[in-house]
Amino acid sequence: MTTQTQQHTENRQGYFGEFGGAFVPPVLESKLKNLSDFFYKTAFTKDFEEEFIHLLKTYVGRPSPLYYAKRLSEHIGSKIYLKREDLNHTGAHKINNTIGQILLAKRLGATQILAETGAGQHGVATATAAALFGIKCKIFMGAEDIKRQTLNVDKMKLLGAEIVTVNQGQGTLKDAVDAALGYYIEHPDAYYLLGSAVGPHPYPTMVAHFQSIIGKEAKKQIIEAEGKLPDSVIACIGGGSNAIGIFKEFIPEENVKLFAAEGAGEGLETKRTAATLNLGINMVFQGANSLCLADDKGNPIGSYSVAAGLDYPGIGPEHAYLKEIGRVDYHGITDDEAIAAFKLLSEKEGIIPAIESSHAVALAAKLFKDKNETIIINLSGRGDKDVERM
Ligand SMILES: Cc1ncc(COP(=O)(O)O)c(C=O)c1O
Repeated sequence: MTTQTQQHTENRQGYFGEFGGAFVPPVLESKLKNLSDFFYKTAFTKDFEEEFIHLLKTYVGRPSPLYYAKRLSEHIGSKIYLKREDLNHTGAHKINNTIGQILLAKRLGATQILAETGAGQHGVATATAAALFGIKCKIFMGAEDIKRQTLNVDKMKLLGAEIVTVNQGQGTLKDAVDAALGYYIEHPDAYYLLGSAVGPHPYPTMVAHFQSIIGKEAKKQIIEAEGKLPDSVIACIGGGSNAIGIFKEFIPEENVKLFAAEGAGEGLETKRTAATLNLGINMVFQGANSLCLADDKGNPIGSYSVAAGLDYPGIGPEHAYLKEIGRVDYHGITDDEAIAAFKLLSEKEGIIPAIESSHAVALAAKLFKDKNETIIINLSGRGDKDVERM
């Protein structure tokens, strides 16, 4: 596994093994090629990195703490640390990526920002970044998600964003991405600020890069706290951005096991699930070659999870590759298990997690009961948006 693991990053631009690429209509081809060139040329310069890190520090509130969860640890029987992305400005990891991409958009002279959102966390983070730089912003959100994440809808409006309700399909994240891509094809001069490590190149690479700050901090923090690397790192996974953000730094560390919790919904054996890495098949979906939930004829189908941010039938191509080479174990967590973990963390630690992040907590409780291991859970967001429904 060593050599494969070391090649986990792109083996050629935009590809992770055979997964990835940019399968888009001709009108977007040159646009995405320019964005890719601009990203590689700009995002690694001293000037860009200084501005990015300065904003993460002074505006987002980074570094986010690595918190030793004593009562949860005693309950589970393993030593649990929480990487507190829930404490970021706007309440989730999504802001790391939006700050990175808005700095690119600003340098590209963008006058309009587009984004899709599921749980509304990426929508709020994008509307926030757009307000910060005084750029117009349009957010596509499914009608079903608008109903289940009202707090975030109100926040986006307050931040000055225009919200476009997407009624097609099931009115969830997949449909919001379709609508945003459709609008982008008609308005290629806008900047499309994609919120997860999915879609055509360069988005999976860019999003992973901007989110990798999570793992860089966590690695330093756990060494300070424990004098060693963790035994395991766990994250929830929708499109894959918070997971790849914390995993990147640990992938070359072969003694660190990596786990991700996807939304199993009502169960892997039912049709009401969002467990793409367990049940998906290889296809081109929303601009990239990756895995996707499909019907018997191989056509993409809708997903289901109680967590809007995990309710997506596709998955980022880097995760499809990490699964293929066996570097990350992907498990399904049902709605019921996630809701129980939502309550468990609230009661044991006084921390109300996002229902998405609760999937990672549930997986830790399931896999590490009385194992006495040292674990980091990426607590990707806070649960204010979910309180009303739980
Ligand atoms: C708090 C939180 N965690 C996780 C996710 C899943 O997204 P990703 O897999 O890109 O981290 C979302 C998506 O909206 C979210 O809001």
